[in-house]
Amino acid sequence: MNLNQFLSSDEDRAWIKEPHINVYVRKTFHYISKNKYPFLDLANVGVKEKFRGKGIFKAFLKQFENEAKKSNRGVYVESIQEIRLEEFLKKNGYKYVLGTPEAFPSMYKLFT
Ligand SMILES: CC(C)(COP(=O)(O)OP(=O)(O)OC[C@H]1O[C@@H](n2cnc3c(N)ncnc32)[C@H](O)[C@@H]1OP(=O)(O)O)[C@@H](O)C(=O)NCCC(=O)NCCS
Repeated sequence: MNLNQFLSSDEDRAWIKEPHINVYVRKTFHYISKNKYPFLDLANVGVKEKFRGKGIFKAFLKQFENEAKKSNRGVYVESIQEIRLEEFLKKNGYKYVLGTPEAFPSMYKLFT
């Protein structure tokens, strides 16, 4: 299933397979500062080893954010285990979800 198929389906979770990148995504709600918001979660991401560091995740995230915006959802990245990814998200406007472990933080971005 690709991202567009997932978004137009009734499924609330799926493995998205795009060229060189696999991502586990969910349609969810999360509380941020006591307010409940709809989100698209990125719960697991892997780029094929040979293709890492070539902008594949960056391009996927841009598309993911655009689709989230269109459906009035934020983007929530769960349990980040790669410091370079954390720094990249911070640079791109993501905030830490309070209460998630420092070693595996979750981060989010709202568009409203
Ligand atoms: C982390 C991962 C998804 C990033 O995807 P990618 O396509 O390699 O990343 P991009 O080339 O789009 O680069 C995006 C940012 O990630 C960072 N990055 C670059 N190469 C990277 C690498 N080999 N591994 C991790 N992060 C990397 C960079 O800091 C980059 O930010 P910049 O543009 O400010 O320099 C991918 O490297 C991967 O699958 N790693 C192994 C599995 C993993 O760590 N998954 C995440 C667990 S939370």
